[in-house]
Amino acid sequence: MYCTRKIYDDIIWVGADNRRLALFEAVYSVPRGISYNSYLILDEKTALIDTVDRAVTDQFLENVEHTLGGRGLDYLVVQHMEPDHSATLVDVLIRHPECTVVCNKKIFDMITAFKNVTVNAEIVKDGDILELGRHRLTFISAPMVHWPEVMVSFDLTSGTLFSADAFGTFGALNGALFADEVDFDRDYLDEARRYYCNIVGKYGVQVRNLLAKTSALDIKTVCPLHGFVWRENIGYYVNKYMHWSGYEPEERGVVIAYASVYGNTENAANVLACRLREAGMKCVMHDVSVSEHSVIIADAFKYSHLVFASLTYNGGVFVNMENLLHDLVAHNLRGRTVALVESGSWALSAAKGMKEILAPLKDTTFIDEQFSFKSGLHGEECEALDTLTDVIIKSI
Ligand code: FEO
Repeated sequence: MYCTRKIYDDIIWVGADNRRLALFEAVYSVPRGISYNSYLILDEKTALIDTVDRAVTDQFLENVEHTLGGRGLDYLVVQHMEPDHSATLVDVLIRHPECTVVCNKKIFDMITAFKNVTVNAEIVKDGDILELGRHRLTFISAPMVHWPEVMVSFDLTSGTLFSADAFGTFGALNGALFADEVDFDRDYLDEARRYYCNIVGKYGVQVRNLLAKTSALDIKTVCPLHGFVWRENIGYYVNKYMHWSGYEPEERGVVIAYASVYGNTENAANVLACRLREAGMKCVMHDVSVSEHSVIIADAFKYSHLVFASLTYNGGVFVNMENLLHDLVAHNLRGRTVALVESGSWALSAAKGMKEILAPLKDTTFIDEQFSFKSGLHGEECEALDTLTDVIIKSI
């Protein structure tokens, strides 16, 4: 049966949830599922904004046909060609050969490249207006939020921003379409941050460009391609985007990420965490062999200070730590204070290796007081660990 919700009487959500996806983009776990959003505008002309992932094809097509109620589809606005939003594009066009695709030139080229079809298209540029009757859509390019072809659409009539990947979140909607129908800050913010940092975290400059381009618009509703529609308190979410896109920590506090095979490096991480907590500092811990790296990266965006503790392994950094650090560098994190802890039983070299991997991070302060210890942590090393703790506390 169709499963749709109204945003306005004539703008309808026709997307679907997927709670069986093992890995989003083949890398990120989504234990709480994911929504693929698509929106249908019913006016003198009908316009569908994006399609959905292959996994939810049947529900989506039923939603579209029910909402059209026997009408034709005049326009399919394609904002983003990543297949989680375009896999079912041809399915729609086969059912609606009367439909004109509305997209920019890069999207048009990607449709041909992905689908090996040439569609009937109206190519739009920034500021062009698509007249639907009462509703009037204009378009704004948003390159690298998250792919180079991305554009967003703004309905000048209702003040609705169709924001593509921007303002999305991991997590199925579970019947609640609007962010104000859930306790977003308590239940969804961590997943929203994890989505942002891992999907578009690398492209903070480009996200800021989009925020600047849309800042002059009278936005009343934000409709992203994943997650909730925002109709209240939009400034709250924009403020989060300002932090994340500027790589500004949301909180002063320490993320301790450690790699430990037999528990000795973990012991040092625990001692450090206890001393930070005793001093009243916020502190979160991750075993890099247990926590998914997307979660650690999200916390690294959230907090101001990062401690990486690794045993020496194969003459360098333990493999899971090495992968995490490369991932952090790939996401362009900057502006953090970093401390290093290393262990090893003969030739200690993990700290040198970690620093080399992290060297490309911009605006990063490395704390000089690196802590090194051999094999197990004993009383005589405590002074050096205390020194590192004191320096971290002072810098917070
Ligand atoms: Fe959800 Fe970049 O696609």
